[in-house]
Formats: sequence, structure tokens, C-alpha cells
Amino acid sequence: MILERFMEEHLPGIERELDQCLPTEAAYPERLHASMRYSTLGGGKRLRGLLAVASTEMVSKGRSDLTPAAYRLAAAVEMLHAYSLIHDDLPCMDDDDFRRGKLSNHKVFGEALAVLAGDALLTESFALLAQLEELGVPAKQVTKIVREMARAGGSLGLIGGQVVDLESEGRVISAEMLEYIHTHKTGALFRAVLRCGAMIGGADVKELHAVTRYAECFGLCFQITDDILDVVGDEAKLGKKIGSDAEQQKITYVSLYGLDRARQLAANTMEEAKAAVVEFRPASDILCQLAEFVVQRDH
Ligand code: IPE
Ligand code: IPE
Ligand code: MG
Ligand code: MG
Ligand code: MG
Repeated sequence: MILERFMEEHLPGIERELDQCLPTEAAYPERLHASMRYSTLGGGKRLRGLLAVASTEMVSKGRSDLTPAAYRLAAAVEMLHAYSLIHDDLPCMDDDDFRRGKLSNHKVFGEALAVLAGDALLTESFALLAQLEELGVPAKQVTKIVREMARAGGSLGLIGGQVVDLESEGRVISAEMLEYIHTHKTGALFRAVLRCGAMIGGADVKELHAVTRYAECFGLCFQITDDILDVVGDEAKLGKKIGSDAEQQKITYVSLYGLDRARQLAANTMEEAKAAVVEFRPASDILCQLAEFVVQRDH
């Protein structure tokens, strides 16, 4: 299958699932729910959601009875991701005023509500994961999925990466430290959602190992490209301001290695991601095309 068709097939389903899983704006307190919906719906590439579905489908060879569970995982990871973006943009973090082509959450709803909407999205995402059992995922797998996503979002994952990212501002750091930041602030969630998607699909040890290797390369490739786009991207297409990393004195793949070497590293990690799942072709074709998409993207 080609990626365009895969996206046409699944993006509306992921969007619908998110819409239905979020409390409506009529639910009290209305402004909190408006804030949660503002930053989660109507924007974003839905990469993590698409990876959830692609990973489930690779392992299950497209079993459609597993799609509702894959969509639930997709909605959960996109809510968790939306929370991380709301907090990432706060003045005490990256201090960015634009996200997904519109004002950042705190610019519209104020800092206090932005913090609390983020907290609520994070918490709700785990309620969604816990519902996977109702969608046919065995209870033992659901426990593993909840643990995997919690670890990825926690201090040994995303939060740890964000903390070191902030502590490194304006300092000279090693290549190892930079890799720690990228594999944790961004990579951990990609790794978890891909592994959880594979678990929903019923992965055996070999498949889970391959998906994990793919995910680790994909995550690094994604964040190197994010760093490159912060320098050479088009703000209108990206929907966020460029030059934010330089302004905040972040160490990035571009600042440490230069643009050409960063591009080379992104291309290399993309090839490594594809190689990790090559033996599962054609079932892994979508994952391979998603890796290519990530490095070629302009948004
Ligand atoms: C941006 O992620 C934040 C990072 C982890 C670098 P995405 O580029 O996937 O953002 P959306 O979801 O498409 O807006
Ligand atoms: C954000 O990384 C990572 C998380 C939100 C966990 P960045 O700070 O590089 O993301 P952008 O560039 O603001 O989207
Ligand atoms: Mg940041
Ligand atoms: Mg940021
Ligand atoms: Mg960035």
C-alpha cells in the first residue's frame, strides 16, 4: 500500500476517535475542556497516531478487527503528545507563541489553564489506554501497554529529556548528552507507541525486537529533522516559529554538527529504521514510507 492511501484511510478515523474521546466543550468546566480540545484537535501531523496503526497492521497483517484498539492507542498517544507540546511552549520552557499554525495554548487560555489542560490530557490518556480491554486487547497486554506508555512519558523518558534539554540551554554539551536529550524528549514516546501498536497486533519476540529497533532510529531521525527545520523551515508550513532553538540557546544537531552533517545523520538514521523492518516486507512497507516521509517533510 502507498502512504497516501494509508493516511486517507486512517487519518479521519484517528481524528474522529480523538474528538469522541475528549470531553465536549459543554462539559463543566467549559474553559478547561475548550483548552484541551484547542490544542489536541484540528492540527498536527498525527504521526504518533499513524505509527500506532501502522505498527499494529504490520504485525497483524491488516486484521481490521484490531483497528478500534489501534485507534484508541492513537488517540491516547496524541493526547499525551498534545500535553507535552502545551507545556513545551510555556514561558518557563521554550516560550513559544505559536503552535500548529495558531496561538499557543497559554496565549489563548492563560498559563494556569495551559498547565492544567496539559495535566488533564496526560491523565486522560491513561484512562483511554485502560479501556483497551473493552476493545479486545487481553488484560495482560493492556497492563504491559499502560506500563510502557507511563515509563516513556516519565522521568526516565520524555520528562527526563525535557529536563536535560532545559538544563543544557546556553551550555556546551557532548554529543552523547545531545543524543540523550533527543532519544528521551522525543524518542521515548515514538518507541513506546510503536511497541504498544505491535503488542496490540500480537507481536512475537522477533517482531517486537524489529519494531523497537525501527522506533529508536525513527525517533532520532525525527528529532534531527525537527532541529533542521527550526533553522531552514518555512514558518507558514511548520505552523511554529523558526529560530526558536537559537533564541533559547539550545544545543541541537545543527548547532553541534552543522546543517550538512545533520542532514546526513538524518538520512542515515532513516535508512537504519527501514533496514530494521526490511525482512517483514511487504507488511512493513508503510513503516518504511513513514520513515522516508519524516526525513523529507517540510512541516
Ligand atoms: C513536535 O512534534 C514536537 C517534537 C517532539 C519535536 P510534531 O512535529 O510531531 O508535532 P505535530 O503533532 O505534527 O504538531
Ligand atoms: C519538544 O521538543 C519535545 C516535547 C514536547 C516532549 P522541541 O522543543 O524541539 O519541539 P518544538 O520544536 O517546540 O516543536
Ligand atoms: Mg523544547
Ligand atoms: Mg519547543
Ligand atoms: Mg524543536
